[in-house]
Amino acid sequence: MNETTKRKDTFNWQHDKEKKKQFLKDNLLKLTDEEMAIEINKRWPEDGRATKGSVVKQRPRWGLLKPLGGIQKNSSIISESLGIVLEETQKQVLEWLKKESLSVGEISRRLDRSKETVIKILDNLRKDGYEVSLEEETRQVVLEREIKREFHSIELEPLYRKVCKIMLISDTHLNSKEQQLTLLHTAYATAEKEKVHYAIHNGDLGEGQGLYRGQEEEIFNFGADNQADYIIDVYPRTKAFKTYIIPGSHDWIWMKKFGYNIVKKVCREREDLVYTPGERSFSLRGLTFETLHPSGGMPYSRGYRLQKLIEGAIGDFITRIRAKQLLPENIPQFYCAGHLHTALWMSYLGFHAYMVPCFQSQTTYLRDKGHHPQVGFYIINVYYDDDGNVNKIKHDYYDYTSQIKKNDY
Ligand SMILES: [Fe+2]
Repeated sequence: MNETTKRKDTFNWQHDKEKKKQFLKDNLLKLTDEEMAIEINKRWPEDGRATKGSVVKQRPRWGLLKPLGGIQKNSSIISESLGIVLEETQKQVLEWLKKESLSVGEISRRLDRSKETVIKILDNLRKDGYEVSLEEETRQVVLEREIKREFHSIELEPLYRKVCKIMLISDTHLNSKEQQLTLLHTAYATAEKEKVHYAIHNGDLGEGQGLYRGQEEEIFNFGADNQADYIIDVYPRTKAFKTYIIPGSHDWIWMKKFGYNIVKKVCREREDLVYTPGERSFSLRGLTFETLHPSGGMPYSRGYRLQKLIEGAIGDFITRIRAKQLLPENIPQFYCAGHLHTALWMSYLGFHAYMVPCFQSQTTYLRDKGHHPQVGFYIINVYYDDDGNVNKIKHDYYDYTSQIKKNDY
């Protein structure tokens, strides 16, 4: 309460009421409340002492409201930031509301104006585009999107409650003279030591045969059965985790020729290897992967292929959701592609996407196409919450390119 309102109103407003009312009305736009109090005291000295506060109280009782911002000159200002012309009073209310929510009564007291005037001011603010509202429960006037002044960090522990370690490998091309079997065994020893939960092999488990001219010069086992037996025999064995394998284009060649699924055959003979139909998502430990062995060569920009694949996959997901073949919660968090013998990670359109490198050194086929293979693998540490939101990933990229062996067969 300010000093003015503390003063006792001892002025007799009822005596000569109509004249006093007319005086206030006539001077509403000409005099300030203080000036009116002085003039009234001059005219009706016998009725006591009118103060600014008593004028302010009496006016609304007689329905005499001052225009917003009062009658002072230069009562309007141009908001520097928004270029919006605001009355002084409106501006004052806006400043208060930016800092805190207030009741209409509190604004009325602070402005020394009636609640009706406050409501008009709030209406004007709304007309000017400010999201001012009156909360029903608290009866507080709130400026939406008010500037926050306090920020509290969120609780991190639930975000990282679940942890999964996954090995991503691809394109082992076993039976190729350029295979890197020693490094593949080294990779599995590393994965065991790192205690991965499972491995995903993104295709081209074996080299196949007859895919391009001159391939015969680059393989040392011929025929589907021979190649399958060799893979069953030499592929690293572990009891620590399972490897989920999708077929790649070099594996499918036997399917095209003889209807022979070499990856399925190998996985039947090995308990630690699991045949995984490609190009459809699969889920493990609450994480869902879309694994793919695409076709085609490397585009001009290395990330472009992955980008386009993800965009295509999103279209596919939308279609399947609409057809009620896929629940939104089953949309994969990960997108993994083999085939390009290249390492790349990108976070794009809600996916953590990987191009997974290989275990095959340079072939004449790749050399002719101007590709340089990256030999290695990923171990990714995924931290996620109970809803499957991936909130942190730690990638360990093992680059074995400097360690490639000649004639490792
Ligand atoms: Fe490949």
